[in-house]
Amino acid sequence: MTQQEYFDLRAKRYNQCLSVFPNARAMDVLPYLHILANRNKLPESVCDTFGGSGFITNSLSEKLNAKFTIADASVGMMDEFKGKDISLMQVKPDFSNFVGKYDMIISHGGLHHAIELVGNKADRIKSDALQAKIVRQLANSVNPGGLLIVSDIPKVQPGGFNALSTECDGIDALMRDSYKDNIYFVLDAFETKNIKNLNIKLHATMNTHHGPAPKYFFDEYVAKNMALGHVASYPDFNMLDQVVRDAGLKLVFRMNFCTPWVFNNIEDAGWFMREKFSIGTPTQRPGQKADEDISMLIQVAHYLGINQMRGKILTNWGVTYSAWQRSL
Ligand SMILES: C[S@@+](CC[C@H](N)C(=O)[O-])C[C@H]1O[C@@H](n2cnc3c(N)ncnc32)[C@H](O)[C@@H]1O
Repeated sequence: MTQQEYFDLRAKRYNQCLSVFPNARAMDVLPYLHILANRNKLPESVCDTFGGSGFITNSLSEKLNAKFTIADASVGMMDEFKGKDISLMQVKPDFSNFVGKYDMIISHGGLHHAIELVGNKADRIKSDALQAKIVRQLANSVNPGGLLIVSDIPKVQPGGFNALSTECDGIDALMRDSYKDNIYFVLDAFETKNIKNLNIKLHATMNTHHGPAPKYFFDEYVAKNMALGHVASYPDFNMLDQVVRDAGLKLVFRMNFCTPWVFNNIEDAGWFMREKFSIGTPTQRPGQKADEDISMLIQVAHYLGINQMRGKILTNWGVTYSAWQRSL
């Protein structure tokens, strides 16, 4: 099965959980908001590559007055996009038909699916080469002054998520704004409409997580329990950095962010994870198969770890964010 067919089959359930809980992954967007809040000029054109059903486009288009394009290999995923006034681009798995130049290109949580199979396993070297090819294409499609931002589960798990690199601009401000108070959590801050005057008042737990990470959860649990399986090759960010620098862009931001996904209770959290990863019986809402929702969350607690804070359930989703800028 190609990745395109695989996502066509997952599309309905994948988008179902996002439409029922559109704010569950709101924290994923925080690094993008931070990067944008520090820019003199905001992007007027954004390409959401590996954009799927539009999670990033939905989140950012509320806050950014730009023309959005979703580029994805799966028509099934893009068919789930319910917004309007955007362009859809069906790309080949190697992005060889990718077109256009953009002020900001984002790749959020998709690159690990850009794989070359040998038998039914991802070939590490060939997959690295494919990912390098795609990212080179994307870097070459960034307008002068524009940004390429890649976020994904890294090949090498850092010592801990939130183990921030100190060599990149902006990280101190992000820490100051986001983690001042390590127990107080205000999701409403995402209502901010004007990114120019963005004041991220979102305080979250430090949530530094040295334990299991999404890679472990995917390889040891999802791959074995999702009927469709889960084959991935996690990107090597050092290799990507070299590729993007060779294309003339400069690294401006890098962080390992233990992004909490936020839920009101364990059924909601378990159901969201079941739908997102096509585990167990498909249901329209949490609680229709409450036993499955709860057992899913027990697995999530084991494989990813969860935190309980102020009556919320937070799952640990550790990913790396990397942003490069093309000079003017
Ligand atoms: C995990 S989903 C992420 C979707 C979205 N960015 C989000 O965060 O919800 C990965 C997406 O990458 C797409 N995809 C996988 N491999 C691809 C490839 N080689 N080329 C283009 N898109 C691909 C899939 O169709 C899917 O929509």
